[in-house]
Amino acid sequence: MKKPYTVFITGASEGIGASIAKTLCSNGLNVFAFARREAKLHDLKTSCSNMSGNLDFFAGDVTSNDDLQKASNLCLSRFGNLDILIPNAGIGFFNPLHKGSIKEWELMVDVNVTGVLRTIHATLPHLVKSEGHIINIGSVAARNIFPNSGVYCATKHAVLAISESLKIEFADRLAITTINPGSVDTAFIENTNNEELKAKYKPTFASGMNPEFIAKAVLQAIEANGSGIYSEITLRPDRRK
Ligand SMILES: NC(=O)c1ccc[n+]([C@@H]2O[C@H](COP(=O)([O-])OP(=O)(O)OC[C@H]3O[C@@H](n4cnc5c(N)ncnc54)[C@H](OP(=O)(O)O)[C@@H]3O)[C@@H](O)[C@H]2O)c1
Repeated sequence: MKKPYTVFITGASEGIGASIAKTLCSNGLNVFAFARREAKLHDLKTSCSNMSGNLDFFAGDVTSNDDLQKASNLCLSRFGNLDILIPNAGIGFFNPLHKGSIKEWELMVDVNVTGVLRTIHATLPHLVKSEGHIINIGSVAARNIFPNSGVYCATKHAVLAISESLKIEFADRLAITTINPGSVDTAFIENTNNEELKAKYKPTFASGMNPEFIAKAVLQAIEANGSGIYSEITLRPDRRK
């Protein structure tokens, strides 16, 4: 990889993704941001306009191959290269299995697993060309199973399996990092339609890590280039306060 690095990140309109985009842009990286809500991406671009890096975006859906292919091509024409991929877009619905809806299960798999694979597929040739870096956003749910989130946990176990297979198949061409956060204070919990569980879990997320803490870990993993690879990073809230 040659500086300035170009980063392609999905789920950049808010939460962890927006924070990573800002942190990387303020550290001089070129950022290509992808998510569905165009107005939010516009605001992100404005907030990054005085930073040392550059940010551009494409409004699209990770359930669409076409959107991701278009965005990957646009990123290339805008910045000339694509070195780092962060397929961060993800969604979770809390519910016990016996109350879960097929629609929610399909969406979690489509965004969190197939969406990650589609994003990798659309960008892989460019990443390999630049001997780049893929930073997958897993979760503590990638290694542990929690109640009321069996399908979400399954999708994050799958993300870890994708990271591991990339690590094996591209050992001499790509750096692979998986970041596994515990609860982070974002809007993530708002997707849950089970009002009882939403109310129960809200305080856990509200007292979770600031998204900037995750963004700093991403920056550290990128800056390690040439020294070694942060293969897996687990980040947990500091509950001592
Ligand atoms: N918050 C936590 O406690 C936590 C902990 C561990 C791991 N994670 C993981 O971290 C990642 C980010 O979560 P977050 O907490 O930042 O959640 P968030 O605040 O809800 O943000 C989710 C992001 O994903 C995007 N997104 C959702 N569906 C999409 C789709 N179909 N196509 C394109 N973009 C889509 C959303 O943008 P649009 O709506 O504009 O498309 C948004 O930018 C996820 O993979 C999540 O599983 C979160």
